[in-house]
Amino acid sequence: MTKRVLSGMRPTGKLHLGHLAGALGNWAELQSKYECFYFVADWHALTSEYGDTHGLTDYALDNVADWIAAGLDPERSTLFIQSLVPEHAELYLLMSMVVPTPWLERVPTYKEQIAQLAEKDLSTLGFLGYPLLQGADIIMYQAHYVPVGEDQVPHLELTREVVRRFHGFYGEVFVEPQPLLTHFPRLPGLDNRKMSKSYTNTIDLSDDAATVRKKVKRMYTDPNRVRADIPGNVEGNPVFIYHDAFNPNTAEVDDLKARYRTGSVGDVEVKDKLAVAVNAVLDPIRERRAALASRPEQIREILFEGSKRARREARATMEKVREAVRLKY
Ligand code: TRP
Repeated sequence: MTKRVLSGMRPTGKLHLGHLAGALGNWAELQSKYECFYFVADWHALTSEYGDTHGLTDYALDNVADWIAAGLDPERSTLFIQSLVPEHAELYLLMSMVVPTPWLERVPTYKEQIAQLAEKDLSTLGFLGYPLLQGADIIMYQAHYVPVGEDQVPHLELTREVVRRFHGFYGEVFVEPQPLLTHFPRLPGLDNRKMSKSYTNTIDLSDDAATVRKKVKRMYTDPNRVRADIPGNVEGNPVFIYHDAFNPNTAEVDDLKARYRTGSVGDVEVKDKLAVAVNAVLDPIRERRAALASRPEQIREILFEGSKRARREARATMEKVREAVRLKY
């Protein structure tokens, strides 16, 4: 039996190279080995963005256009919207009956995010329940594997603990999901800070070639290297981290690194070659996106269709769950 993979993304902005390297590329590859479910976690976006819900659905449709342009195939994978499968809310509710609130309070992202997003009031039940809702998303489809970054591992641990507790009360219903760690090192932003749309330090998947060239030109490099003949640092240098991530010509990258270390290459050459490499990665994505843009209704249709398919699975799971909890009338 083919094992299942499930993952989701919150629609909080345009997608950038970080999403491609950290998630989408991997999601696309997993399609050849697993039955995949990928969804837009719009309810999860609401846990922090409840105060301004403008743009949420537009971002959702825009993100899914990028998913498909980056190689997610709606024929092979189920692409859907969380809020179009309201069974997720029912499963979340039933799980909320058995999860002790201290389990949620001790999830590391909980206190971290409250501190980091101090301008938002996150002392809500919805935000506390974030990882539990994520757990419901996953176990609804009996997913074996969940491709995520390191930061999401505690959410998977919580999910497994809640599943075991649920099974203790009501008997076995769910698969205990495992994270599939994306081993790719986190890409820094163009300014070497954390990559984030709020720092405007991203290269977006929808940027055109000229924008990419301009952005690469102003990328942060080794600040000590004020002249091209000064030996520079390759390790931890965003320009080379990006070369490693996106330039498939390893001979070229090795040569640039060697010359950078000895002070025999200018930043301009390193960056020009990086812009060429990034544009070569983005070109086919741009092409597919342009084709999709000519039929904007198509994305919506794909998502309605996918959500219908997801909902069939979700209904079947909820039948079993209600039976286990003895909520059958
Ligand atoms: N928490 C995930 C993130 O921020 C998004 C998400 C919601 C998710 N539900 C999920 C990821 C289920 C994997 C599985 O990236």
